Amino acid sequence: MSANTITECLELVAERAGDPTPLIYERVFELHPEMKHLFVLDRDSSARGNMLAEFLECILDLAGERAYAVGLLQTEMINHDGLGVPPKIFGTFLSTVRDVFRDVLGADWTSAMETAWQDLITEVDGILSAPAA
Ligand code: HEM
Repeated sequence: MSANTITECLELVAERAGDPTPLIYERVFELHPEMKHLFVLDRDSSARGNMLAEFLECILDLAGERAYAVGLLQTEMINHDGLGVPPKIFGTFLSTVRDVFRDVLGADWTSAMETAWQDLITEVDGILSAPAA
């Protein structure tokens, strides 16, 4: 099941790189420097860390039980637009996370991981482009 593959991937990343928060936001700001100012008050990185933790839980829910992920993604896309994060950029976060994890794992990135993340990306793209219910 893909939730197991994603969990295994998250565990390996934590083993190799510890907390991946700085690596992920460094990549987000490289791709979207205009997002940096939204985090100026986040001096201790706690907002960044909380957002990433919520996001990863949401992705695990999407790959597993699907209790709340679809609704959270749709709601947060709208909330984030209000915060100054346009849907186009909001929708790139998952592939940025995948790219950073793939770089961290290097040769240990497996084809099962590639498939599991790609399936999630396709699914999230579909959720975010569906008309609001
Ligand atoms: C590049 C894309 C994204 C950017 C730039 C971004 C930016 C932000 C910012 C600036 C905050 C507020 C931090 C604070 O001051 O407290 C935040 C909070 C949050 N973000 Fe993101 N975000 C992105 C993608 C996502 C995605 C895809 C999710 C999916 C679940 C998400 C979930 C959350 C949650 C749950 C919070 C906490 C509170 C809330 O606003 O409801 N973010 N994000």
